[in-house]
Amino acid sequence: MFRSPVIDPDRSIAQPSDWIYRRDIVRPGSKDVFESVMDLAKRRGFIWPTSECYGAVAGFIDYGPLGAMMKRRVENVWREFYVIQEGYYEIECPTIAQEAVFIASGHVAGFADKMCQCPHCKEFLRADHVAEAGGIKNAGTMKNEDLSLALAPCKCLACEEVLGKVEVFSFNLMFGTSIGPGSQRTGYLRPETAQGMFVDFGRLLRFYRDKLPFGAVQIGKSYRNEISPRQGMIRLREFTQAEAEIFVHPNSKNCHPMFRRYADYTMPLLTSDKQLADEPTLTLSMQEAVERGIIANEYVAYYVAMTHALLVKIGIRPERLRFRQHLPDELAHYANDCWDAEILSDRFGWVETVGIADRTDYDLNAHAKASGTPMTVFIQYDEPEKVPRRRIIPNMGVLGKQYRNKAKAIFDALAESTPTPEGADVVVDGEKIHIPKDLFEVRDEIVDVRGEEIVPHVIEPSYGIDRMCYAILEQAYDEDEADGETRVVMRLSPKVAPVQVAVFPLMSRDGLDTMAREIQETLQKQNILAEYDDSGAIGRRYRRQDEIGTPFAVTVDYDSLEMQTVTIRDRDSMKQVRVPVDRVPGTIRALVDGKVKFGEI
Ligand code: GAP
Repeated sequence: MFRSPVIDPDRSIAQPSDWIYRRDIVRPGSKDVFESVMDLAKRRGFIWPTSECYGAVAGFIDYGPLGAMMKRRVENVWREFYVIQEGYYEIECPTIAQEAVFIASGHVAGFADKMCQCPHCKEFLRADHVAEAGGIKNAGTMKNEDLSLALAPCKCLACEEVLGKVEVFSFNLMFGTSIGPGSQRTGYLRPETAQGMFVDFGRLLRFYRDKLPFGAVQIGKSYRNEISPRQGMIRLREFTQAEAEIFVHPNSKNCHPMFRRYADYTMPLLTSDKQLADEPTLTLSMQEAVERGIIANEYVAYYVAMTHALLVKIGIRPERLRFRQHLPDELAHYANDCWDAEILSDRFGWVETVGIADRTDYDLNAHAKASGTPMTVFIQYDEPEKVPRRRIIPNMGVLGKQYRNKAKAIFDALAESTPTPEGADVVVDGEKIHIPKDLFEVRDEIVDVRGEEIVPHVIEPSYGIDRMCYAILEQAYDEDEADGETRVVMRLSPKVAPVQVAVFPLMSRDGLDTMAREIQETLQKQNILAEYDDSGAIGRRYRRQDEIGTPFAVTVDYDSLEMQTVTIRDRDSMKQVRVPVDRVPGTIRALVDGKVKFGEI
């Protein structure tokens, strides 16, 4: 899909209360959780403003050491689903593509947001966002002229002056560039990873041995020159997408080969009908949703459910997650059905984080037409079909002599013509030519047709990795009490926590340090990121790891030397259990992979 309103605080208010769940972190008079999270993220090396020493540029961020590791882990969970479970291989296309790609895809002509300029502070603004903040509904789908009029009483989001008369323009969001010296060739930084997978269709088809369905996936940077990005990690000019393009037979969209995996997966769905009627969500299994025509087909339902499972796995709480169907006027013109996974943020309301769309055959048709390369699949019938066919066989000798250099074009035109008993009329180079009946023969035959060429449809789950990372950070942030002090703790899922275990010697002497180092090494051999820390009081060390979300800590004390046991501490409950040293790597591995829970050790 191209654009859709990302944040709609009104809709979050319209939600039934079972959807709204807020922990009491936002205290009156204190910073809200966004500020606490971003403060921690900067201080502890998750997220930094980019090129800070020159003054940061809005819409760009750096992932610091812990942020980059967490992001990698999120991407790897995504790979567990899409590459390992689904068997869709990953490809990697350039982030710059030539203009022809984006002319065909429609981005050059249509990938634009509505923009206006504040007459007071001169700030450029997203016109639909200004209007929505001013209480105007459906601003995203209004025409520029109507939006211009509607904006008059609205306040500038930057200086808060009433805008008055402003003009609304369409601003194309693609970053342009030139390829090679001398500006010979126009290029664009890709605004989505998807197009690379569409233009590679022919090669992908061969790779998958000419059989549908198949999928290609890609994780990489996408670029959009957002007009006024003011929402931290939510709206970036350079961001990471993880997209899957699943190519299916148009008549098999209700036959996902593994549908049974999620057929009974039951979750609340905010259908377009329910949104229009301002009614609560429906809780349905995927099977029911497809049978009742609420979700367009099994493929879309399968990836809606899988996305729910994936987001929960990385630590998104189900009560802060909803799947919202696009409204008819929001749906991209080529899309059949589209569901957004939206995550409730303390600061931003419901944030679109994943879009799952049935893109039909739009993209492949567009690239086939523009490039002249067929983007079809030959579907062989089980049994050849007997089909009547009329063949027109020209009398080559006579026609060739009579029409010389036009003869070839006449043969071709004859093959397509509908002859009468007198002959056939054909048009060659704009000239109408009558070919008498004795210059060709009409043969009616029955032929065996082995199959047909079809253009596959595309189902596209498209994930915004940065928005997933922000949601993880925001939802993980918590404060509780430990040893009579406030403890800041990031309750990150062990699947995505950057540091998986901390190893502490109680004292950095008497052989405790050597034993702790050895344990760290055995953990590293299990591919576990284990951080060794021997500086400061043990309580301080626990607090430091709690603050970056390290789920487990192994402590070596004096009993360890004698009994060959250590303690494993659980970040969330702060409980400790003593385990034999030789069982530490296996236990930590099982805890990190979610195979056992701390209470079960
Ligand atoms: N190929 C389909 C596509 O690109 P989209 O809804 O425009 O669809 C998919 O983008 C996801 O990419 C969004 O749900 C969002 O998570 C992420 N995304 C889009 N624009 C973004 C931006 N400016 N900053 C951060 N993430 C963005």
